[in-house]
Parts: sequence; structure tokens; C-alpha cells
Amino acid sequence: MKQTILVTGASSGIGLLLANKLHENGHTVIGTSRNPEKYNLPFKLLELDISSDKSIESFPKRLFSQIESLDVLINNAGYLVSGLAEETPIDLGRQQFETNFWGTVKLTNQLLPYFRKQRHGKIITVGSILGLIGLPTVAYYSASKHSLEGYFKVLRFELRDFNIKVSMVEPMGFKTNIGDSAVRSKVKIDDYDLLRKQTTAFSKEAFDTAPTPEPVVNTVLKIIDQKDPKFNFPVGQGAPFILTMQHYAYKAFENSILKRVRKAI
Ligand SMILES: NC(=O)c1ccc[n+]([C@@H]2O[C@H](COP(=O)([O-])OP(=O)(O)OC[C@H]3O[C@@H](n4cnc5c(N)ncnc54)[C@H](OP(=O)(O)O)[C@@H]3O)[C@@H](O)[C@H]2O)c1
Repeated sequence: MKQTILVTGASSGIGLLLANKLHENGHTVIGTSRNPEKYNLPFKLLELDISSDKSIESFPKRLFSQIESLDVLINNAGYLVSGLAEETPIDLGRQQFETNFWGTVKLTNQLLPYFRKQRHGKIITVGSILGLIGLPTVAYYSASKHSLEGYFKVLRFELRDFNIKVSMVEPMGFKTNIGDSAVRSKVKIDDYDLLRKQTTAFSKEAFDTAPTPEPVVNTVLKIIDQKDPKFNFPVGQGAPFILTMQHYAYKAFENSILKRVRKAI
């Protein structure tokens, strides 16, 4: 069935690939970007900055001047703050939450009255495997994605009687622009010199060897097609193994990560 679908952060990476695929499949797609004038895409791109209350509050009016109803909201927009936790200024952490967590929650809240009124809809949020596990250098990113897990887990209960389905997609590392647009802390504390070198090399290797994000797109397509999707959809090679290991053998999981980090240089 052809649907009307909103994809936030559709100018790049996962969102761009997803919005293009949905458009090709015949759905009505509205994408968003902070700078829509920069792009020439086959689907409609509206301006939205999820770190700005003003932009979020004015968005439904702009959206519903283009479409009559909305079937699926895909919360995809987000970015990465990276740096060892103690070396990352709190302000960078706050900004990370302002976009990844609060921006996503505020936009969802703006659109919920429309979904409730029509008594159907799907809300699919692109979290991260880092919303389910932790790794060095991504404390605030990981915390923002863990927070999304908690928020949408609760929302899913509360929206069930309105026939609004809530799911999360949790990608492992995929090749997009997230590394290039990451905000990296510049603070350096001598005690962390070795760990910083190791984690920088570890992250570089992870970004360099990451696959392209088709599996994430295919997972979202699957959720859109399902009548009653489950909540969690981890995506990427080894994701089920990592999650099982974390659940049943936390110390072994931790040691295997640290071993790889220490071997990275
Ligand atoms: N790539 C990965 O390995 C990976 C893994 C797990 C989860 N994720 C998640 O996947 C999602 C997409 O990331 P990506 O990897 O595709 O990165 P990307 O290529 O950098 O794309 C990020 C998108 O988010 C938009 N965006 C960023 N900040 C925004 C803001 N304040 N308001 C509105 N839009 C904003 C950008 O649009 P404009 O710059 O045009 O505004 C862009 O379209 C993110 O939520 C990310 O956390 C990615």
C-alpha cells in the first residue's frame, strides 16, 4: 500500500538512501534538512532544524501544506559528538541531547495530535547500537540514544490504543557522513593520552571499514510493510551476537572491546 512518509535528515547518509528508495517504491516522501536549498532531490525537502524549538513548532503547518495526512514518521536526523567522556565539555553533551534526544521527542510530540486524530500511524526512530551498548569515546551520543530507547519504549505502550505503532532501528556502524560531520572535543588531559590514541585509531578503523547502509534501509522498509512490528530492530553484522554477549557475559564483552581498542595502534 502506498503511504505518505516523513523522513527527517534526508539530505545525507541513511536518510537520503531511505527517502530515495521510498520515493522509487511509489510512496509520497517528504524529507527534511536544515538547508533544503542546497539539494536537488526527486522528493520534496522541507526545512527543519530539530535543535530549534521555533523550527519544530512551525513545522506541522509547513508539512500539512504539502500533504493531507501522514502515515509514517521516520525520526532519522541526528549527529555525533565524540571524545573521551571527561575530555568532552558538558556543553557539547547538552547540545548532543538537544538534537538527538529532545529534538526527536519534540518533533514527535508536534505530530502526535495528527496521528491520534486519524487513529493510525507508525513512528520509526533511528537509534543506534550505541543506544543498546556502550563504547569508548561516545558517552553523550550513546547516552542520547539510550534515552531515545527509554522514551519510545514507554510511548509504544501509551499509543497502542490509538493504533500508532512505535519501533526503533539500531544500526551498527555504516558508511555515511556522520564521521565527517561529527563534533569532536578538543580538550586533552595527559592521563588519557594513550587511551585517546588507541580509541582514535579504533574509531578510524571502524569508519574506514564500515559497509554502506542498505541493510538499515531494508530494515525500515520491512517495518513499514509490517502490520504490527516489534519494538527493537538492531541492524548490522554481528549485532545479535554483541547484544547476546552483553546480556549474558558482560565482562567478556567488555574485555573483547578493550582488547580491540588496545590493539588498534
Ligand atoms: N552511520 C552510522 O554508522 C550510524 C549508526 C547508528 C545510528 N546512526 C544514526 O543514523 C541517523 C542518520 O545519520 P547518518 O549516519 O546518515 O549521518 P549523516 O550522513 O551525517 O546524516 C545526518 C542527517 O541528519 C540531519 N541533521 C543533522 N543535524 C540536524 C538537526 N539539528 N536538525 C535536523 N536535521 C539534522 C542532516 O541534515 P542537514 O545537515 O541537511 O540538516 C543529515 O541529513 C542518525 O540519527 C545517526 O545517529 C548512524
